[in-house]
Amino acid sequence: MNQIRLASNNDETYLKNSIQAAYHEYPRLIAKGNGSLELAVERVLEMVSAEGFAHIAEENGQKLGVSWWTPENPDEMSVAYFVEPDARNKGVATQLLEAGLGEAKSRGARSSLIKTHPENEASISLARKVGFEPVVALLRQTL
Ligand SMILES: CC(C)(COP(=O)(O)OP(=O)(O)OC[C@H]1O[C@@H](n2cnc3c(N)ncnc32)[C@H](O)[C@@H]1OP(=O)(O)O)[C@@H](O)C(=O)NCCC(=O)NCCS
Repeated sequence: MNQIRLASNNDETYLKNSIQAAYHEYPRLIAKGNGSLELAVERVLEMVSAEGFAHIAEENGQKLGVSWWTPENPDEMSVAYFVEPDARNKGVATQLLEAGLGEAKSRGARSSLIKTHPENEASISLARKVGFEPVVALLRQTL
């Protein structure tokens, strides 16, 4: 039976590696020229610990995945997630999102946002399954 719990300081390395791994699968989420992947990950980690939260999914003490939540606006939280390749397609991300939405609501959020790559079918289907709807198409050009 999976458990979802708030991340603690002891989870920082796992969180960092997971954020890095998520960006590695979809590197185009980071604008070229706006700093390295390492810097982008550090910025996310700072935001999570200062104003957001992270959830860890575990089974018998083994980490299966993580979601990280940061304020996008005063009443809106942005979320991203990573599930270990061996643990995918078993509902782990669904559990993480459902638990995180409850936590975000209890912290005052009235809506939530996911920014994901348009070819990331798994992420988009997951988001739609738990109630997210597309609202904007974001296009980018490197200068
Ligand atoms: C996206 C990701 C988190 C999904 O995790 P998961 O635990 O496998 O997801 P779940 O098992 O909860 O699946 C929930 C729904 O997502 C969709 N889904 C999951 N994997 C899918 C895939 N490979 N292709 C299409 N849809 C998929 C399905 O609709 C599924 O619902 P169903 O099982 O009822 O059909 C995982 O693939 C991952 O870590 N990817 C790399 C990191 C990433 O892309 N993060 C997003 C950055 S915002």
